[in-house]
Amino acid sequence: MIECKNICKTYVNGDVSTQAVRGISFKIEKGEFVAIIGPSGSGKSTLMHILGALDTPTSGQYSLDGKEISKMSEDELSDLRREKIGFVFQAFNLLPRTTVMRNVMLPLLFSELPMKKREEMAKKSLKYSGLDDEKLYNNFSNQLSGGQIQRVAIARALINDPAIILADEPTGNLDTKTSHIVMNAFQELNRNGHTIVLITHEPEIANFAKRIISVRDGVIEKDTRNI
Ligand SMILES: Nc1ncnc2c1ncn2[C@@H]1O[C@H](COP(=O)(O)OP(=O)(O)O)[C@@H](O)[C@H]1O
Ligand SMILES: [Mg+2]
Repeated sequence: MIECKNICKTYVNGDVSTQAVRGISFKIEKGEFVAIIGPSGSGKSTLMHILGALDTPTSGQYSLDGKEISKMSEDELSDLRREKIGFVFQAFNLLPRTTVMRNVMLPLLFSELPMKKREEMAKKSLKYSGLDDEKLYNNFSNQLSGGQIQRVAIARALINDPAIILADEPTGNLDTKTSHIVMNAFQELNRNGHTIVLITHEPEIANFAKRIISVRDGVIEKDTRNI
């Protein structure tokens, strides 16, 4: 499903160039649950942006379902992101003074679906993400707890029923108990057939995945099955 061949990414800012990713290759099959782990600055987010077709590698090939990303047009890319990929990124925070429902429906903003249908999809997605209490759905997202916010972010990522879920440090600002609840939600999604690629710098969080790819200084150090 996902195939990276010798991916490199160099950022150039004026005279300074940073080699964030230096020759990474791997395949991820449908239904896998992979954690990419590494210390801060090891190139994880850079790799995740490439996997999400939000950024292109400087060299190397990235294919999704057999199609090479660099050969796709901007329109094809945005269709692909919308239809196949759900993002749970720390950087893509929820809109604070906006209701839970509206936050979850955000990816459907440009769809032609009637509002009633969108609301149905949002509710289904919220329930699926473990936020059962409908009373919360009309609260502003800044009135929720950390764990609830992360579930809303997951619900938003799931609203289009994407084949792949990409999550960058989804438990980053959560306490241990809440982060375990969120990780259990990812495991449940994986059992239901979603392919998950999750970034973390915490070994304990990576352990929830079925496969762990360790990166350091932009290269893969280890790629192990977690049984
Ligand atoms: N837009 C950018 N411009 C310049 N350097 C960047 C940019 N994004 C990331 N970097 C650098 O690339 C390296 C890898 O960063 P990143 O992929 O964010 O690592 P991680 O997510 O593992 O912390 C770091 O040295 C970082 O400073
Ligand atoms: Mg990062």
